[in-house]
Amino acid sequence: MVKSKPYIILSAAITLDGKIATKCGDAKISSHKDKIRLHNLRTTVDGILIGINTVKQDDPLLTIRYAKCGHKHPVRIILDSNGIIDHNTKILKTSTKFKTIIVVSEKIPQRNLNRLKNYLNVDIIMSGKKTVDIKQLLRHLLTKYSMQRILVEGGSKVNWSFINQNLFDELIITVSPYLVGGTRSIPFLSGTGFPNIADSPTLKLKSITRLEDEVVLNYVRPCHF
Ligand SMILES: NC(=O)c1ccc[n+]([C@@H]2O[C@H](COP(=O)([O-])OP(=O)(O)OC[C@H]3O[C@@H](n4cnc5c(N)ncnc54)[C@H](OP(=O)(O)O)[C@@H]3O)[C@@H](O)[C@H]2O)c1
Repeated sequence: MVKSKPYIILSAAITLDGKIATKCGDAKISSHKDKIRLHNLRTTVDGILIGINTVKQDDPLLTIRYAKCGHKHPVRIILDSNGIIDHNTKILKTSTKFKTIIVVSEKIPQRNLNRLKNYLNVDIIMSGKKTVDIKQLLRHLLTKYSMQRILVEGGSKVNWSFINQNLFDELIITVSPYLVGGTRSIPFLSGTGFPNIADSPTLKLKSITRLEDEVVLNYVRPCHF
């Protein structure tokens, strides 16, 4: 069968009550041991993909600095329909060192597009009319960039898009021993949600790893089991 997308792994650290950040945007959920595990996982993929809200809220580097040395650095991929990513973000500040792709939509204002074009090591991919068409994007990343494996690291809206469109193969969730509650905290998945449990994708538990008080759950789609 001809592949139409790279292998997609969704990854998140959640609290015991299923949140990925508090209502104030605090997302420091996982332990240092789990960060090392995550960075080692990052060394196994070609790209790490996140949404623009996560860039705004967390200002991540998306590097493999806690992993063992000698690995090829994955490409950082940001979904940013309007091309609003700030010049002072760590992603853009380190873009000469680590390859970065900003994925915009057709509605991006021309001045934002011109600004992004000034970054030498940043590729711009246009996909979708108002928001990024992730199915089209994944095909492009497979065929034009030869990406075989991509790690999706959130946030909530991006996770939902991949699950709602059935574009993922594996789920790796760290459950950390926190309870934050609140209707305004950020859940693992946002979006409209499925009306019935039967609408949920089918998943098979592949492994459980204990890291002191955290557990790392690894689920895969049955076709990969
Ligand atoms: N604990 C964890 O593991 C973890 C990991 C990551 C993030 N987080 C937390 O998650 C929060 C951010 O999550 P969020 O849900 O607000 O935002 P998000 O998923 O990070 O970003 C969503 C934004 O991405 C853009 N986008 C473009 N195309 C999209 C598409 N097809 N599907 C979905 N999004 C698309 C949209 O903005 P435009 O329309 O402007 O393009 C959208 O509003 C932060 O508080 C962060 O700390 C936690």
